[in-house]
Amino acid sequence: MNPPIEHSALSIAVIGIINHDTIQMANGEELQDLGGILYNVAVLANVADAGTTIYPVSRIGRDCWDRMLHLLRPYPNVDTRGIVIAPEGTSRNSIRYDASMEKVERLTNHIAPIPFTQVEPFVGYDALLINFIIGDDVSLDTLRAVRARSTGLLYLDVHNLCLGIDADGYRFHHRPDDWREWLSVVDIVQMNEVEACLLAGRPIHTDDEFAGIGREVLAAGPAIVIVTRGRQGSVTVSRRAGADTVFVCPPEPVDRVVDTTGCGDAFAAGFLTEYLKMNDPVAASRLANWTAGVNCTLAGLKEVGRFRNHR
Ligand SMILES: Nc1ncnc2c1ncn2[C@@H]1O[C@H](COP(=O)(O)OP(=O)(O)OP(=O)(O)O)[C@@H](O)[C@H]1O
Ligand SMILES: [Mg+2]
Repeated sequence: MNPPIEHSALSIAVIGIINHDTIQMANGEELQDLGGILYNVAVLANVADAGTTIYPVSRIGRDCWDRMLHLLRPYPNVDTRGIVIAPEGTSRNSIRYDASMEKVERLTNHIAPIPFTQVEPFVGYDALLINFIIGDDVSLDTLRAVRARSTGLLYLDVHNLCLGIDADGYRFHHRPDDWREWLSVVDIVQMNEVEACLLAGRPIHTDDEFAGIGREVLAAGPAIVIVTRGRQGSVTVSRRAGADTVFVCPPEPVDRVVDTTGCGDAFAAGFLTEYLKMNDPVAASRLANWTAGVNCTLAGLKEVGRFRNHR
């Protein structure tokens, strides 16, 4: 294993859209709030060491600017200079559950991607976490330009890169034809079970099978691929000096699951924080599962500040 990286003050940029979700609950109740990369940002701000600064790089409408600042106010280690006001307004998404409790998601305001010029000031940072909240948060050309110029670690959460958008804004699962090209330009890839099955093009069920799709993704270029398995923890496949290592990490035991929203985002925040310190995918997977497990016990973004009580 490589020696730990000596860093006291790190700079981490989080790239992706901050969107506004309206959720129709099964009981008729309606919830509305901002989300998207704010989960990554808030959890990173909680778990990062003192001295680390988090820079969201995003686009949001003027209508939601004050609400966003309010949600980020508890975190003095978050710097909002990378967030730009989008003249098209805030990205808006509505979520409801149909009669068979299947999630029906519709994009009601689809805003333009984050251009390279907006990411450029951050390419020299220690790490860039790219999370696909919409699916076209950045273009492949932008990602390639980031790779060409970046000196830091590039971490990509596949997330909604696997959600297509039809003419009416409805979202549907799909496998992008050029997925290998997207994943080839980053160092670490995270995906959940559904995304792993979509990329594999077949149903997969066991840790060994998830490690198999992890190896397929490694072959495209990244050094580490993680499949998050919800309540079953995660499978991490890493390659060093041509040799693959698989680590099956158990989940954090959780007494009472309150809300699993943003678990994948919390996982990424935990992994990145530990990996930047220790350069060790096993230790990073452990902290990631701990962070995501704690996130399950908190009721959404407004309670993320309670992470501090658990450390
Ligand atoms: N019920 C649970 N108990 C313990 N940990 C959990 C549970 N559900 C999720 N987790 C933790 O959260 C991590 C990520 O979960 P999951 O695979 O559902 O991500 P995701 O689908 O990307 O989430 P998101 O909704 O944020 O996109 C898991 O690897 C695990 O550590
Ligand atoms: Mg996810």
